[in-house]
Amino acid sequence: MADAILTDEINSMDIDARVESILSQMTLEEKAGQLNSVDASSPDPSGRLADDIRAGRVGAVLNQVELPEICKLQYLALEESRLGVPLLFSRDVIHGFNTVFPLPLGQAASWNPGLVREAARIAAAEAAATGVRWTFAPMVDISRDPRWGRIAESLGEDPHLASVLGAAMVEGFQGEELSAPGSIAACVKHFAGYGASEGGRDYAATSIPDNEMRNVYLPPFKAALKAGAATFMTSFGDIDGVPATGNDYLINGVLRGEMGFDGLMISDWDSIGQLIVHGFCENPEEAARIAAQAGVDMDMMSSAFVDHLPALVRQGLVSEALLDEMARRVLTLKFALGVIDDPYADIHRGGAPAPADALSLAHKAAVESLVLLKNEGGVLPLDFSEIDNLAVIGPLADQPVEQMGTWVFDGRAERSITPLSAVRSALGDQAQLHFAPGLTHSRDNSQTGFADAAAAARASDAVILCLGEEAILSGEAHCRADITLPGAQLDLAKTIRAAGKPVIAVILAGRPLALTHIEPYFDALIYAWHPGNMGGPAIADVISGAANPSGKLPVSFPKSVGQIPIHYNRKNSGRPAEPDKVIAIEDVPVGAPQTSLGMSSFHLDDGYEPFYPFGFGLSYSKFAYGHIQISAQSIAPGEPLELAIDITNSGDRDGVEIVQLYIRDRAASLTRPVRELKAFQRVELPAGESRTVRFVLTDADLAFSRRDKSFGAEPGGFDVWIGGDSQADAHAAFELCARSAAG
Ligand code: NOJ
Repeated sequence: MADAILTDEINSMDIDARVESILSQMTLEEKAGQLNSVDASSPDPSGRLADDIRAGRVGAVLNQVELPEICKLQYLALEESRLGVPLLFSRDVIHGFNTVFPLPLGQAASWNPGLVREAARIAAAEAAATGVRWTFAPMVDISRDPRWGRIAESLGEDPHLASVLGAAMVEGFQGEELSAPGSIAACVKHFAGYGASEGGRDYAATSIPDNEMRNVYLPPFKAALKAGAATFMTSFGDIDGVPATGNDYLINGVLRGEMGFDGLMISDWDSIGQLIVHGFCENPEEAARIAAQAGVDMDMMSSAFVDHLPALVRQGLVSEALLDEMARRVLTLKFALGVIDDPYADIHRGGAPAPADALSLAHKAAVESLVLLKNEGGVLPLDFSEIDNLAVIGPLADQPVEQMGTWVFDGRAERSITPLSAVRSALGDQAQLHFAPGLTHSRDNSQTGFADAAAAARASDAVILCLGEEAILSGEAHCRADITLPGAQLDLAKTIRAAGKPVIAVILAGRPLALTHIEPYFDALIYAWHPGNMGGPAIADVISGAANPSGKLPVSFPKSVGQIPIHYNRKNSGRPAEPDKVIAIEDVPVGAPQTSLGMSSFHLDDGYEPFYPFGFGLSYSKFAYGHIQISAQSIAPGEPLELAIDITNSGDRDGVEIVQLYIRDRAASLTRPVRELKAFQRVELPAGESRTVRFVLTDADLAFSRRDKSFGAEPGGFDVWIGGDSQADAHAAFELCARSAAG
C-alpha cells in the first residue's frame, strides 16, 4: 500500500514545495524510476510491467490507450508502489487521435495557425479522454529533403512558417492550462537537426554548421518554447560527431542556457542506448551518465537511467543534485498536468469532442490543405450539374486507411470518407459515375486493370485520377531514393490521357513527389497530401467548386531527386544562377572545350528552379498585386517600417489569398538567404474587390544569429518582396541604420 506522499498540509503549498516534499521521501532508485518511460503496447502490459511499477521503477508509459488497461497500470502505481506517484501516459498524437486531420505537412499548406491550433485542441481532447496526457508532437524539424519519410510529419522547409505553426500546435495541445480538461503536454521534437539526415535516410548522421543550426533549424524550437511547450525530445541524429542525445552543447548550452528552457527533456526511443551504437559511449553506464549530464531528464525505452543512475550517484560520477533536478522536472510536469492531484481526471470527466464536430474541423482542415498546382484552360471547377458521366480512377480513390497517412495509431478508418464516395454523393443521381481503380495499390505494376480504367475514362465527360503513395511509404524509417509516383502510375496516367477527356489528377502522398514526367498528362492537378478522414469531401468540394482552393506549398517541389536539396531560402553563392547564365545539356556541343566563363550555379539537366516553388498554389480567383508602398527609406533600430500593398481579386469568385512577405539582407557578417519569409496573412477577398494589406517590420524581424553568435540585426540594405509565392515580384528596398550613439 502506498505511503501518503501528500498530506493536507503539503497539499496547500505551491507546486514547488509539493515536489520537494515528494523528492525528500524518495530513494535514489525511486528518483531514477521517475525518469524511466516504458512501452505498454505489447500484450498484457499490466502483467508485464507490474513488478517494475510496484518497485517504483516506472515514471511514464507510452502506447497504451485502452481505458481498462490504463486504469490497471495507474492503480498499480497509486496503490501498490511505496510512494504512490502516478504514472504519466503518453502517445504519438501527431495529426489527430481518433479523428484524423491532414498530415502536419498538409496542415502546413493551409498557412493557417488558427486552424492548426484548433485541430491540435481536438486531438488533445480525444487523447485526454482515454487518459493520455502527453503527446510527442509537434515535430518542428526543418525538412528540405523529400526523400526523408518524416517530411510528412514536418511543417516544411521554412523556419518562419514552421515557427508560427509549431507554436500554434503547442497552444492547441496545451490549451490555456495544462491541468484543464482536454489539455495534454506537447513535446517539441527532435532536438535538433534531425531533418538534415544525410541523403534523406532516416537516422543517418547530419552535418550542420553552427550558423545553419542557429538560423535554420533552431528557430521553430525557440518559437515552440515561447508558446509554452512543456517538454522537448532529443533527436536520433549525430550532429557533426556528437549524437543529439549526448549533446551537452545543444541541450544544456543552447536550449537550457541560451533559450531558457527549464522543462523536461526526454530522449527518443532508446536513443540513450544508441549512444553506444553510434560509437560515442562504451557501455550503458557511460551512456546514462553522458545523456544525464548533457541535459536529458527522461529515458524513453533504454532503461539506462533506471538501471545505472543510482549506482553512478553512489560512485560520485553523477551528482545527486543532478538526479534530483531530473526527477524534479518529471514531478513538476505531473503536478502541472494535474496528474498527481487527480490521476484519473480526464477519464472520469470525459470530454472527447463529438465526432461530428471533430469531423467538421477535419473537413475544413482538409480543404485548406489542398494545393491546386495546375488548372490548364480553367478545367476546374467542374460544374457537377453539367456532368452526365464522370470517371473516378486510380489506386487511391477509395482507400479509407491510406488517406489517413502515416503516424495514425488511433485513427478510425470508419470515419474516413474517400474521394470516390464523396464525389458520388456530390454528383447525386443526375449523373453516372464510372469507377475503376486501374491499379490495386500505389506500387502495383500490373496493367490488368488498365482496360477497365480506359473504358471508364472514354465513357465519361471528365476523369478524376487519384494517384499517389500509400501511407506506409512515408513516415519514420520510410524514406525513398526515387520520389516519382511508384508502380505503373505513369503508364496509367498515359493510358487515361489517351482517352482524350479532361484529366483532373489528385495526388495523395506523404511528401513532395517529383512530378516532371507525369504532370504533362494532367489538365489539372490538386496536391492533397494524405488529407485524413475527411479528404474525400474536401477533394469533392474543390473539384466541384463548392470550395475555392487556398493552400500554398510549405516546401519546394524538386524536378528530380538530383536537385535535392532545393529550397527557396538558399544562399546566393558567388555565381548565382540567372536565365542567361545557364545552359541545357542538349545545347552543350559534343566535343566542346572546357569552359566555366559566364556560367553559374545550376544543373545542366534540371536548371536551377524547382518544379513548383515554396509558397505556390493556385486559386479559382485571380489575385493581382500592386506596388509596395513603404513608409520610409530607412529605419533605425526599434522603429517600425510600414509596408502596404493593394491586392485585387479580379476573378469572379470570392477567394482567400495567402499574402507572403520576404526579405533579403544584402550584406551581413554571415551570408544570408536570397529570400526569407518574414510574415504572411490570410486575406479573404470577395470577387472584384481590392484590399490594402499592411505589414509592419522592425529590426527584430531582421535579426539573425550573427557570426559572433549574438542575435540581432545588422545595419545595411534590405530588399523586400510581397506576393503570392516565394517568387513574388513586387519589390521595395530600405536601409536599417546603425544605432545612434545616444542609443
Ligand atoms: C521514435 C520517433 O522518432 C519519435 O518521434 C516518437 O515520438 C517515438 N518513437 C515514440 O513513438
